[in-house]
Amino acid sequence: MQRTLVFAKPDAVRRGLVGEIVSRLERKGLKIVALKMLQMDRAMAERHYDIHRDKPFFSSLVDFITSGPIVAAVVEGREAVDTVRGLMGATDPLKSSPGTIRGDFGTEVQENLVHGSDSEESARQEIAHFFPELADQGPGGPP
Ligand code: RTP
Ligand code: MG
Repeated sequence: MQRTLVFAKPDAVRRGLVGEIVSRLERKGLKIVALKMLQMDRAMAERHYDIHRDKPFFSSLVDFITSGPIVAAVVEGREAVDTVRGLMGATDPLKSSPGTIRGDFGTEVQENLVHGSDSEESARQEIAHFFPELADQGPGGPP
């Protein structure tokens, strides 16, 4: 079993797609381990997207991701990192397959509805960042 961090971005919350996104995770068979709505401040957003600090879209991305509340979840399942990335679709919604979240609901590269950790290591770091209360738990919950 593996855990990963997923969040519905501010565009998804504004458009009323949180239930759709959470439902797709659940219907796939992933277990929701933790779920909360929060608003990222700039420091949190800059840390989350630190890998993109030198990209031309960085400040616009931080503006967008702090523009409203997000709904973050820790989900657990077999190969959860790759499973969630598959459900999300490619970064550019126009290149995402129909049947994926981005492929079904998005047209914009930046406002692409959903985030998912891209590796087991980033999942560990992001779970600790968004859900510090879970950080010491392995898959399956408290020892
Ligand atoms: P995420 O980190 O949000 O799960 O998305 P991702 O792995 O599919 O894409 P990544 O390359 O990590 O990019 C992070 C987010 O930055 C925005 N973005 N804008 N050319 C652009 O304007 C551009 N490229 C990326 C998107 O919101 C993307 O999800
Ligand atoms: Mg990414």
